[in-house]
Parts: sequence; structure tokens; C-alpha cells
Amino acid sequence: MQPLIAGNWKMNGVASQLHEIEAVAASVKATLPSTEVLICLPATLIAQAVLTAAGGISIGAEDCSAEISGPFTGDLSAEMLKDAGAGAVIVGHSERRQHYGETDAVVAAKAKAARRAGLLAIICIGETSAQRLAGNALSVCGDQIARSVPENMTASSAVIGYEPLWAIGSGQMPTSGQIIEMHAHIRDCLTQCLGAEGKKLRILYGGSVKPSNALSILSLPEVGGVLVGGASLKSADFLAICRAAPAMNPPNVNSQKEQ
Ligand code: 13P
Repeated sequence: MQPLIAGNWKMNGVASQLHEIEAVAASVKATLPSTEVLICLPATLIAQAVLTAAGGISIGAEDCSAEISGPFTGDLSAEMLKDAGAGAVIVGHSERRQHYGETDAVVAAKAKAARRAGLLAIICIGETSAQRLAGNALSVCGDQIARSVPENMTASSAVIGYEPLWAIGSGQMPTSGQIIEMHAHIRDCLTQCLGAEGKKLRILYGGSVKPSNALSILSLPEVGGVLVGGASLKSADFLAICRAAPAMNPPNVNSQKEQ
């Protein structure tokens, strides 16, 4: 399974910062051509970033409406984001669940919209600190998978982003054991929901991923990539995280496949 290194700029960035995208894309193209790299950006930057990236990396969006078009002032459909050049969209990020009251049903509808438009849906789940302390982390995330992942999702139309809320932007990290336990549980839940296809969806870890911890996170079982917030804003940091990925993908993998 090819790991996915995904960035999320959140509500940061104006056109004058696109040189960070240019630097990441040029370096990935030249030195990491087999690493799958995606940066999700504010919608205002997508079209310009796609040109700037020149195919070196993919560009995605951070949210979409479940609707195709109509009287939804201020919203953007998955089709519009695709039209702007996005290849992926984050749905159900905890910041949207928390600040805008997005329920699992809304997240599932947005994931369906992403698939309808041909965008990769990055479906986010994660528990709060209180839920973990109460011993409910696994059941909370299992319920979110069951209710937020539509039944027709495939490995090419969706990935899961596991982001414990208490690890986002806090510098606090789950232990390796906690990540292993949660990712194994998510895999079981996906298999229950999606059957054989559920074994193939990549499960990204997100929350305080940095150059210093990326390799150890990416080396854990069932970690199919990372979702990076703050450290994706600076090309040097994000590239250092991207460079941790090829260790998962020995260069002979492709030649073995061709034999
Ligand atoms: P940080 O990497 O800043 O903790 O943010 C994680 C995140 O929310 C990515 O979606």
C-alpha cells in the first residue's frame, strides 16, 4: 500500500505563500517521484496552486457541500472543487464537527458527494481527551466509522484520517501502542462496513506530526500515511515528513510487480 502524505493548511495561506507549494512540488518531483503527496488548501488557492504544483503533488480542498448546486450561499460543491483542479477533499475534520456541528450523517453525505465528483474523500474521525480518559476512544471512533463512511466507498475513493482531537496542534502525541491499537480497530470496523474493500483503505494518522516523529509513526502497522496540519505550512518541514515515507516503499516494489 503506497503511503499518502497529506497536508492541511486549514484557514491559513494567501497567494504570496504559494512558493511553499512550489518548493514542495519541485522537490517531490525531482527526488521523491514515487511518493504520493497531497496538500489540502483553502478553496481560494486551489486553482492557482494546481498550476504552481505543475503535477509534482496533488492539491485538495478542506471541505465540501453535500449538494451539487443551488441556493446554498457561500458553499462549494465537490464538483466545483474538482473544476478548480482539486483531486481530493477532507470531510468531517474535527474542527468542522466541533465548530459547525457536523454530524456523522452530514460527513457521510459529504463523502458521497466527493465520490460523485470523482474526488478522493479524506474522512476524518477521532476522539476527545475526555472520551479517551473515560475508556471510550475505540467505541467512539468505531461508531464514527460506521456512521460516516458510506457503504460504497473503495480504496481509490476514500481514506480515513484518524486524528485524536487532543493531539491536534497541541504537541501531545498518542503512544505508539495507542496508535497501533486504534488503527487495528479502525481496520476491523472498515472490514465490517465495507467487506474485503475495507481491508484496502488507507488509514492516515494526524495530530502533531512533525519531521522528528514522522518516520516512527509511518513505520507502525496499519498506518497508511499521515495528515499534517501546522508542519505542512513550511516546505522544509513538510518535505522532511515526505522523505520519511519512501522508507516504507522500497524502490524494487514496482519492478517486482512488473515481473
Ligand atoms: P497539527 O498537525 O497541526 O496537529 O494538525 C493536525 C490536523 O488537524 C490535520 O488535519
